[in-house]
Amino acid sequence: MITGSTAGLGQLAAAHLLRRGHHIVAHARNEQRAAEARRDLDAVVIGNLLDLDETRSLAGQINALGTFDVIIHNSGEYGLPDAEILNANSLSPYLLTSLVDTPREAMIYLTSSLHLGGDLKLHEVRSGGTNVNYNDSKLHMATLATAVARRRPDLRVNAVAPGWVATVMGFHNGPYAPDNLRAGYMTQVQLSEGTGPAGQMTGKFLFHQKEETSVNSSVYDEKAQDALIAAFEKRTGASLG
Ligand SMILES: NC(=O)c1ccc[n+]([C@@H]2O[C@H](COP(=O)([O-])OP(=O)(O)OC[C@H]3O[C@@H](n4cnc5c(N)ncnc54)[C@H](OP(=O)(O)O)[C@@H]3O)[C@@H](O)[C@H]2O)c1
Repeated sequence: MITGSTAGLGQLAAAHLLRRGHHIVAHARNEQRAAEARRDLDAVVIGNLLDLDETRSLAGQINALGTFDVIIHNSGEYGLPDAEILNANSLSPYLLTSLVDTPREAMIYLTSSLHLGGDLKLHEVRSGGTNVNYNDSKLHMATLATAVARRRPDLRVNAVAPGWVATVMGFHNGPYAPDNLRAGYMTQVQLSEGTGPAGQMTGKFLFHQKEETSVNSSVYDEKAQDALIAAFEKRTGASLG
């Protein structure tokens, strides 16, 4: 199951895993995007992650399909007003983590090197504030990954920064993206299969199949992890159990 798999890195990871014989469930923001993805994929679930009610409905659609081996929390918005980022990039991945049946093998959370400039902004999270920017949201994703990894030692749970790559998002600020596009999705592919240099790692922040050393201190700080989860719980009413 890959969120945000109608374009970019999610679509490329889906295509690669499909070619290697895996069953993939894609996720689209609306029916039009789903119709396009259905041409190539067995199943497509629908929900706009900007709207938490749609995310809750999406969790129900995913659970109706059974228990997955791997869930990749890939979807992300960039360039929207800060008021819209919290739901799409932080609260929705948290809600899906809480409400979707735990997968059997692995969970992967897409983050970014820009998380280094982020702040957890716990008050904003608790109050559903309008001042959470993209960098903050990517710090949320990385810290969520390490928090979930601590709670689920039976799974492989990691954060992945894909690099600045040539997708719609990567081209947002102009037609230039310096990093290797294939490397941007192969870490997710290998973590899904449990192969490659990072295949058996858990609780790590990864970049191109290796552990990244330049990481915001909150990511590996257990108190910060727990505080973020408590803020997510307060805002959404959903617990990690
Ligand atoms: N590209 C980079 O340079 C870069 C760098 C660092 C981190 N990342 C991270 O990598 C992940 C994938 O990025 P990408 O470059 O592949 O981005 P992308 O090309 O913009 O694709 C994003 C995917 O997520 C979907 N999506 C976005 N917002 C959604 C929403 N509110 N509801 C439902 N679906 C939504 C998009 O659907 P539509 O096709 O309908 O828009 C699309 O399928 C993101 O989490 C991003 O933050 C990317």
